[in-house]
Amino acid sequence: MIRNKYYCFFFLFYSIISFSQSIPIYKKSLIGNRIAEFIPQGYDKEKTPSLILQSEPVNMGSLPESWKLIPEFTLIANKASATLSLEGDVSLYGGGEVTGPLLRNNQSIKLWNTDTGAYSVENGKRLYQTHPWVMGVRADGTAFGILFDSTWKAELITNSDKIIYNSEGALFRVYVIDRDSPQAVMEGLAELIGTIKMPARWTLGYHQCRFSYDSEERVLQIADTFRLKKIPCDVIWMDIDYMDGYRVFTFDKKRFPDPKSLNDKLHQKGFKAVYMIDPGVKVDENYHIYQSGTKNDIWVKNPDGTEYHGKVWPGDCTFPDFTMPKTRLWWADLYKDFLNTGIDGVWNDMNEPAVNDNELPENLRLGTMPYDTPHRGGDYLPSGSHLLYHNAYGRLMVEASYNGIINTNPEKRPFLLTRANLLGGQRYAATWTGDNYASWEHLKLSVPMSLTLGLSGQPFNGPDIGGFLGNTSGDLWANWIGFGAFMPFARGHACAGTNNKEPWAYGEDIEKSSRIALERRYRLIPYLYTLFYSSHKTGLPVMAPVFFADSKDLELRAEEQVFLLGKDLLVIPSFAKDPALPSGIWEEFSLVDGDLKDTYQAKIKIRGGSILPIGKIIQNTTENSFDPLTLIVCLDENGKAFGKLYIDEGDNWNFEKGEFSLIEFTAQKKGNKVFVKIHNKEGNMDPYTILENVHVQVILNKKVYTGNGTLQNTIKVKL
Ligand code: GLC
Repeated sequence: MIRNKYYCFFFLFYSIISFSQSIPIYKKSLIGNRIAEFIPQGYDKEKTPSLILQSEPVNMGSLPESWKLIPEFTLIANKASATLSLEGDVSLYGGGEVTGPLLRNNQSIKLWNTDTGAYSVENGKRLYQTHPWVMGVRADGTAFGILFDSTWKAELITNSDKIIYNSEGALFRVYVIDRDSPQAVMEGLAELIGTIKMPARWTLGYHQCRFSYDSEERVLQIADTFRLKKIPCDVIWMDIDYMDGYRVFTFDKKRFPDPKSLNDKLHQKGFKAVYMIDPGVKVDENYHIYQSGTKNDIWVKNPDGTEYHGKVWPGDCTFPDFTMPKTRLWWADLYKDFLNTGIDGVWNDMNEPAVNDNELPENLRLGTMPYDTPHRGGDYLPSGSHLLYHNAYGRLMVEASYNGIINTNPEKRPFLLTRANLLGGQRYAATWTGDNYASWEHLKLSVPMSLTLGLSGQPFNGPDIGGFLGNTSGDLWANWIGFGAFMPFARGHACAGTNNKEPWAYGEDIEKSSRIALERRYRLIPYLYTLFYSSHKTGLPVMAPVFFADSKDLELRAEEQVFLLGKDLLVIPSFAKDPALPSGIWEEFSLVDGDLKDTYQAKIKIRGGSILPIGKIIQNTTENSFDPLTLIVCLDENGKAFGKLYIDEGDNWNFEKGEFSLIEFTAQKKGNKVFVKIHNKEGNMDPYTILENVHVQVILNKKVYTGNGTLQNTIKVKL
């Protein structure tokens, strides 16, 4: 009795002091150009390992006295939080994969990777990925970024006066970047988390997907129809039905009897083939992957040491414990035989990991593993619960998949698409915004969603164009492809049971508009590829919000219908109503016959002062874009323009050894002539043998003036 009394008293006392405990900062230092690191007292990397940063930060001295953005750490009932108070009017962005507005002031999101199909603005506050990252832009155009280096289940609250990150786990480090512009902050983020790998050129083409093209015949029919109808396309995707009973790394014997010959045929027709791999492995004693995983002891276990089983497509599944180095090696090895059938890219899905527990009462459903499921860790990762590792599951899976792909084909650039990921995971995989819906709401949402991912370190992303769930009307499709064709990752996809959603599925008129949209994308590939190269080098988004054109212009801060591709191309989707547009010279121009009159197409405008390198219309990226190259020129108020083109071999690593050409062009008006020439070139590739004939189009006050020539000489255009 007495002991109980003491116990109660102690418990009460402990609860009060543990309720909210302020934690002093143990160490604050500069670790880069205006990048600060804050470590709270008691931080222990055995409790909160870092899976976000690309490398351990190096101390570069002490923080300047004037540094303002400093986190306050607290422990509330042993759960760590950090708060940063903001001064003045600040526009907030980031948070990764989010629904709702681009401008994130007074929003909150749950960071717990969740399979949330048909998400809406209201229920979509929890999506497939975790990005504990916020960017703020002040009224004067200067900007900051805040990174919470934790994978624990958490909530990110972005109030206008305060950023709050409440985790359900142990103390973590915070990184703050404070620089002159949002672009400089993005570059700072890249210093912390790295950038994307340079993607293969074919990945920038159009991708056609469906759940599922479920036989070799159907796949080839789709491929042939693209070529027959002359609609450009580079990639056909194989969703889960190619597998034998949804067993990963197998092929259905009847419907996909000879994947090697299927992939060869696709290659001959100028297509690449991407196949899906999920993490759940069917529990089946006669299945070689299950046998091998069991033998190697790599499955996630329950707290009592038995195998954890959860239901996914094949029924009961086991899940690789990707926190263990040996699991990642084992998983990587599985790709060898699989990819040797000629597979070009991999799609990792359901890797939140999603588990179907619908048979449980609603209040007990988690949609994933129980929080206390242990992960064994190893190397730099301590053992820890699912509450710690859930948000990193997809990220660790794609690291292993990436390694498997590159080990199999070391000379090629891997292409991997993932649904779940973590801030920093762009180093391994591109992403798409999951199971959206065929609705106007989702069509419009796809712009701020992609922009926000780009502002969160993931430039290589896009939505399921047309909408995945539900039937898509021709009108919705054509409006969506009209601007979706300009998004960094452009893939049409459709759920099982929905209507056909290929570009020709809606009748001749829509087919024509789809062709125009995709021809416009293919003409832009030289520019897009150059932007991806720059993103790979710097971390800048490929698709950027319009406030990037002028971070001091407050009118642009909330604009989320219109977007920029790089800094020189403005895309105004057909649905955009009264968008806020950047000031200065922006000239509309045509890329493909009939595009300006087609109301489904986005309007595109070139920035005054820039030169866009444009290819010719091709059906896939194995064809030559540069016969001829077109330079679209728009002069600034001083009659000058500047542009860049990056070229390399397209799908190998030789560019890292100098086999590339980065060409800078200038244009200058003198009298009634514009002179266009190469101003500078870097790299070992000789641009003159690739770019033989060059067309120049100067767009001036809505008129087009043309000239032709070769780049050995200055090209003159008469106005
Ligand atoms: C998930 C994916 C979707 C895919 C389906 C079947 O819902 O998000 O893209 O088609 O699984 O594999």
